[in-house]
Amino acid sequence: MEKYKVILDVDTGTDDAVAILMAMAAEEIDLLGICSVNGNRNVELTTDNTLRVVDFVGKGDEVKVYKGCALPLVCTLNKDRRPLIPYGDKYFDGQENHGNHLDLPETSLQPQDKCAVSYYIDTLMASEGDITIVAVGPLTNLAVAMRAEPRICSKIKEIMIMGAGLEEGNSGPLQRAEFNFWADPEAAEIVLQSGCKLTIVPLDVTHKTGIKLKEAQAFEDSGTKAGYAAATFIKRRIKNYSNFQHNWHIGEETAAVHDALCIAGLLDRSVFTKVVNCNMHMDYSGGTADGVSVVSFKPVTRDLDGIFRPAVKNVDLVMEADREKFAAIMHELVTK
Ligand code: RIB
Ligand code: CA
Repeated sequence: MEKYKVILDVDTGTDDAVAILMAMAAEEIDLLGICSVNGNRNVELTTDNTLRVVDFVGKGDEVKVYKGCALPLVCTLNKDRRPLIPYGDKYFDGQENHGNHLDLPETSLQPQDKCAVSYYIDTLMASEGDITIVAVGPLTNLAVAMRAEPRICSKIKEIMIMGAGLEEGNSGPLQRAEFNFWADPEAAEIVLQSGCKLTIVPLDVTHKTGIKLKEAQAFEDSGTKAGYAAATFIKRRIKNYSNFQHNWHIGEETAAVHDALCIAGLLDRSVFTKVVNCNMHMDYSGGTADGVSVVSFKPVTRDLDGIFRPAVKNVDLVMEADREKFAAIMHELVTK
């Protein structure tokens, strides 16, 4: 059995929570640590939510949580550019995917003293280049770590990222950006151009691989704690999607559980049925497309000097995935 040394980077969040449950349950994953970051909520809440998930399934002695960056690199400096960040319930009417606190008991678990950025640097520099990072929130922690200690880039085996959207979007004024990239576009660009092996799982795919209500019910009916928690989060998402997100063509009584798809794809690459090696950049101009990822499938680029050069294919972009396989892996992990 191939074993993966994994660091998770999360902005927990109901879909992050399902990804964490799956990662903790998978025998193939040696979960070295979990880094929290500002995103779905402020970092105090995403850290607390992460600890709640760990505690709920009795993993508090095993799984260490490192609190990460409280704000994006620069996009909140201009107050008009990201006026809602950091997110809090005051901007919502209670009917959205996450809530401030996950619907789990309070926890007395605390994050480690070391911050997430120092944890990345220390752990990666001491490693043998065999650590995979699964990053399913804004990429601030990784970008700061890469700027502080660029040598970590050559120490990372792979970064699996939930982010970007080709035709789909869920953030920004035109809803053309994907949230994780939109929330910190400069950080996303730093990671995209890092030279690391990158696998990108975009919204286009997560929107087509939703988990059904009857599948969530089966998780709960299994009687496991992880099954109960995953079902609770997915049911909340399904309720919300049916109220507000029908324009995303996700299907009735179904919800995207974006971040969890990364864990399934890490464990079984055949979940990703079409992957294209291509060029990806971020728009961080502050204009209409601020936070939108720009993808080129062309074999060449042409700079302002007019000379054609081979395009740098910096990402493996997942274009299609096997929904049934994804749901089956989730079922297996949260019901055991
Ligand atoms: O766009 C979806 C992503 O944004 C998910 O990772 C979700 O948890 C939020 O962070
Ligand atoms: Ca997330």
